[in-house]
Amino acid sequence: MKKTIAVLAGDGIGPEIVAEAVKVLKAVAAAYGHDFIFDEQPVGGAAYDAVGDCLPDATLAACRAADAVLLGAVGGPKWDALPPAQRPERRALLTLRKELGLFANLRPAKVWPCLKDASPLRREIVDAGVDLLVVRELTGGLYFGAHRRAADGRSAVDELPYAVDEIERIARVAFAAAAARRGRVTCVDKANVLATSRLWRETVQRVHDAEHPAVALDFLYVDNAAMQLVRAPGRFDVILTDNLFGDILSDEASQITGSIGMLPSASLRGDGFGLYEPIHGSAPDIAGTGVANPLATILSAALLLRHSFGLAAEADAVEAAVGAALDAGARTADLGGRLGCAAAGAAVCAALHAGRREI
Ligand code: IPM
Ligand code: MG
Repeated sequence: MKKTIAVLAGDGIGPEIVAEAVKVLKAVAAAYGHDFIFDEQPVGGAAYDAVGDCLPDATLAACRAADAVLLGAVGGPKWDALPPAQRPERRALLTLRKELGLFANLRPAKVWPCLKDASPLRREIVDAGVDLLVVRELTGGLYFGAHRRAADGRSAVDELPYAVDEIERIARVAFAAAAARRGRVTCVDKANVLATSRLWRETVQRVHDAEHPAVALDFLYVDNAAMQLVRAPGRFDVILTDNLFGDILSDEASQITGSIGMLPSASLRGDGFGLYEPIHGSAPDIAGTGVANPLATILSAALLLRHSFGLAAEADAVEAAVGAALDAGARTADLGGRLGCAAAGAAVCAALHAGRREI
């Protein structure tokens, strides 16, 4: 299979972690006879420093031309003083999501068996099983409503718009995902206060009844959901929620798995094309020190193989190699170990080769 992957390493630890994921993808290509072309493009503060724009036209064009996008992270203190609309997070990340139509953000969070002790939750809670998928609406809501500051600077408004078709399409993604998992969707909202949340409830219920009656559906207010996530995370299979709540709950979910350095994400638009990135940020405090955990990015590459290229066996192999490397004790600092970023990537590549020989 011949495919082009736009590679946007970005800022902070981005280049280090993306380099390891690219190594793993090259190992997959060699082992399974694929031809992956890596088109490296600048993004974020690094692109701003180079050409004065966090999302250069050429980078966006390269993403459009590619079969999938692998992204590291953007942002850092150096660019915090830029005007809001030009900062890496908004100009690069949010524009990429919107321009590429990536409305469905999948953030799987599970506790790996050998990392149970890394979870801050009590062992009996973890033993009940933590394996959930946050399905976050990614191109609407508060992030893309109007942001206004009054002329006198003394008040501000952020609008939270949602339309029925936006809710329907993300609900379909959640129900389809649940049907292939444990068959349960929890829709998280704030329907006791927000008009948009009431529209979400009605719409999600309607899509459920008409298209996925076999999937169990329940609704939780977001404050309760945040509490249940630490009290009884095993009750969740698929969490379906809006842009802002999904941002918050996915960070919380990541922490119960032991480290935010383990969580991958896929941002999809329904035709196979997608952007894949770890959910953690650019971690400027450890950038350049070689201690970052590359596993979230490597697991994002596995999602890329599965969702954009339809290479399920290869994706399974990468995920199994991550598990095998962890089982063998490969631990970066966030997991209480001493392994560096490159060594962790090498451990996954070695496990991939070992797994291949066993077949
Ligand atoms: C994420 C990040 C972004 C978001 C920021 C950097 C704009 O936190 O991908 O979760 O809020 O979506
Ligand atoms: Mg976030």
